[in-house]
Amino acid sequence: MKVLFVSPEISPFARTGGLGEVVGSLPLALKKAGVDVRVLCPLHRCCKDLPVRILESEIAFRKESKLKCSKIGVLEDHKFPVPVYFLVNDHFFDREGIYADENGNYSDNSLRAFVLSQAAIELEKVAEWIPDIFHAHDWMAAPTCAYLNAKQGEVTKLKAQGSLLTIHNLEHQGIFTHKDFLASGLPHTYWSMDGFEHHGNLNLLKGGIQHADKISTVSPTYAKEIRTVEHGHKLEECLRFRGADLVGILNGIDADAWNPTTDTSIPHPIELSAPSQGKKKCKQSLVKEFDLPFSNAPLFGVVSRLHHQKGLDVLLLALPKILKEANATFVILGSGADDQEKGYLELAKAFPRNVGVRIGFDDALARRIFASSDFFLMPSRFEPCGLAQQYAMRYGSVPIATKTGGLTDTIRPRTDRSKKHTGYLFDQADGLLLISAIKQACKDWQDKKFYAAMQSRTMQISCSWELAAQKYIQLYGWIFPKS
Ligand code: GLC
Repeated sequence: MKVLFVSPEISPFARTGGLGEVVGSLPLALKKAGVDVRVLCPLHRCCKDLPVRILESEIAFRKESKLKCSKIGVLEDHKFPVPVYFLVNDHFFDREGIYADENGNYSDNSLRAFVLSQAAIELEKVAEWIPDIFHAHDWMAAPTCAYLNAKQGEVTKLKAQGSLLTIHNLEHQGIFTHKDFLASGLPHTYWSMDGFEHHGNLNLLKGGIQHADKISTVSPTYAKEIRTVEHGHKLEECLRFRGADLVGILNGIDADAWNPTTDTSIPHPIELSAPSQGKKKCKQSLVKEFDLPFSNAPLFGVVSRLHHQKGLDVLLLALPKILKEANATFVILGSGADDQEKGYLELAKAFPRNVGVRIGFDDALARRIFASSDFFLMPSRFEPCGLAQQYAMRYGSVPIATKTGGLTDTIRPRTDRSKKHTGYLFDQADGLLLISAIKQACKDWQDKKFYAAMQSRTMQISCSWELAAQKYIQLYGWIFPKS
């Protein structure tokens, strides 16, 4: 079976978040399971120093402009075990950011999405490799599914190639205008309610949803939630319409890259047989780094983007109250909304003995926080899958999270009777509920035996990509029985 991933991001070369991480690790598991999987991603400025061999032939986008001609570069880095094709077009992709710069989103983002998606369909002419399935990720690659239908003609029953669209976050849909659609070169009939048109706008994700053979999202609970008004981001009707073809497959994590016994970014390894030893040493060093005292109080960690989705505005408001009522330390690493960044920095000043804050994105520090903390906070308003809670769990940090999306699917909640719980879930991103979960956690932490048993279960959750890879292979088979 031959599968081409089409994605605007791929870790470790170009990533802004979870999408890049998934595209950088799921293909490895698929390859191990026997799939001939390859990835197509734009050659962004951050990829410019990679060893890339440029193939000779060009891919033209609607032929009328030289600017719209792209080349294909093949990654020649043997450490990365899956073939990666880069779409080389400096006019569209040699930019400071992947989607935006300091002035905001690029105004030609729809055209950039069309250029990438159309190139995916044309790649076979240049690369001498013909995919059976195009696996598009998120709005920027979503039009791939439509270009494929346009190429094959919808009347043919015997399709030679099929498509899968994976939605990593329904909030980001790629919304533009009708004029932008006209630049796509797609058939005019694709501008309709059952195509790319959505309330008078061009909606790239919707077009992908309508055109894909199958649709997946990154957890089973999120696959159900997005059919509702509450979580559907106005696409719930369209997702219900495609409901029979929509499945949820839980993301895994790369168990080698996130291994607390071998991770060189953390000051001391954490062994499953005696996690508290390693974690204590990591904690001693982290509190020093944040200029906090080493105290006999549980340490709560946060590693997150500070966006509305993540609900950390709720924690920010609740923290002064929590700190009055509970003896606890908080370490927060994140960046995003200005008001939250400011608010957290002020809080750290107001509570210098209990709150440490770093604004930014720092992979090694994130790992040290996972390794040092006793609990990990994720009060998300919605969460398609969530990777951070899985990393935290591997490193022995017990998650406290909202009961939503992938958090529901990865955390077995503490209830009065449960003996198998691996964390705490509360109903929604609400200050009082969060406070009460944190207080319960502080109480449980005092009971060393209880906490140790919970921590040990948490560290043993199964989170490898193998199971997910098998599910994707089954899904590919439903799309395209021939393979
Ligand atoms: C997005 C989602 C996150 C998910 C990730 C990878 O970033 O917000 O929940 O884990 O994609 O699929």
